[in-house]
Amino acid sequence: MNLMESNMYEIVKMKKEQLCQVEEISKEEFQNTTWSNKQFEKEIENSFVCIFETKIVGFLCLQLAGDDMTILNIAVSNNFKRKKIATRFLQQAKEIAKENNIINIFLEVETNNIPALSFYKKNGFKVLRTRNNYYKDGTSCVEMKLNLLKNSQF
Ligand SMILES: CC(C)(COP(=O)(O)OP(=O)(O)OC[C@H]1O[C@@H](n2cnc3c(N)ncnc32)[C@H](O)[C@@H]1OP(=O)(O)O)[C@@H](O)C(=O)NCCC(=O)NCCS
Repeated sequence: MNLMESNMYEIVKMKKEQLCQVEEISKEEFQNTTWSNKQFEKEIENSFVCIFETKIVGFLCLQLAGDDMTILNIAVSNNFKRKKIATRFLQQAKEIAKENNIINIFLEVETNNIPALSFYKKNGFKVLRTRNNYYKDGTSCVEMKLNLLKNSQF
């Protein structure tokens, strides 16, 4: 995405009236493991959407606890992938981390989710451990961590 294109994408706080559009993307991207409207609403305080023209093309849900931040949920709509939208979301997460003196960002991701694993590894996340049979359908996950003191780009 060049500078002109990147200006066409805006990241803003998620609003309640956007939850239906967010849920649509979530259903497309996560099928059986999609979050419900209630789950999104519960996390809305630390959630963001990416808007292209008037359309929501991605979302990010964070959880903040003490020194730690967790990426609870992140997805980019299919036609908008590989445009660095998730990279922009991660930048947003790091800015919030900085404002809140957060040291580590954690997340868990399915072991077979190659796009997400590649994305996180490219951005400096390290694998902490693998948890077998972690999800209801028997798939495993890896827990990952980004230490912001070691990976500071501020
Ligand atoms: C993972 C996801 C959020 C990435 O979003 P995105 O906006 O397409 O990612 P970006 O454009 O910022 O990608 C940045 C880099 O990550 C890596 N990456 C992203 N998608 C990739 C893919 N499909 N295959 C390999 N590497 C990939 C690349 O290194 C990419 O840089 P490049 O395009 O210059 O090669 C997106 O694929 C998605 O929504 N997946 C479905 C939902 C999901 O699995 N969420 C994560 C749950 S933990």
